[in-house]
Amino acid sequence: MKEKELKHPLITHKLSILRNKKTSTKEFRELISELSIILCYEAMKDAKLHNTSIETPLEKINTKCLNEDDYAFVPILRAGMSMVDGILKVLPTAKIGHIGLYRNEKTLEPVEYYYKMPKNIGKREIFILDPMLATGGSAIATINRLKQDGVKKIKFLCIIASPEGIEAIKKTHRDVKIYCASIDRCLNEIGYILPGLGDAGDRVYGTK
Ligand code: PRP
Ligand code: URA
Repeated sequence: MKEKELKHPLITHKLSILRNKKTSTKEFRELISELSIILCYEAMKDAKLHNTSIETPLEKINTKCLNEDDYAFVPILRAGMSMVDGILKVLPTAKIGHIGLYRNEKTLEPVEYYYKMPKNIGKREIFILDPMLATGGSAIATINRLKQDGVKKIKFLCIIASPEGIEAIKKTHRDVKIYCASIDRCLNEIGYILPGLGDAGDRVYGTK
């Protein structure tokens, strides 16, 4: 499935501020949130709508609505949590599942430390949230875990993706579509994205 890279002058502008090492934690969080809203709109372009009828102040009409039981958002802890704020601005009733993974800094392999999903997870379309798709290890571990739980439809939303991470997902999970604000150049020798933005979790939480 072809990945979708958002291309827009405003997005390029916002990414330039986000990548700048001088950008404050506050502004970094706000930009991740804004970009997540745009990614959410793009990824939900084909969302299923249900018929409903309402009354406007002037007349009764048949219209369409989303059903919140049809989907759920799953941030990969920690950094993925920074995208939830934007999603909840657009969809305040969205159900959120959590998966906790960290990368073993030597092997770069993801290690799971938390997993809690909304009910009927197998019946929902899942939007995985993580600002960074680097080697793809964390994304693939999350997709594997969700598929074990019966999930059939998954989209992966990130701010920055590496070509290596995109290829890794395509090789293992062709059915998962990736949405990102930028596809960067490559990974460095310790698995960081170049030019990237550094360690997203540390920048969001001010831990370094
Ligand atoms: C970062 C990032 C992704 C992962 C990407 O998380 O938020 O989850 O690395 O790398 P990968 O594609 O090579 O797996 P990290 O492990 O640093 O944990 P954190 O969010 O707790 O900082
Ligand atoms: N995780 C990050 O936070 N940044 C990278 O560049 C790669 C993985």
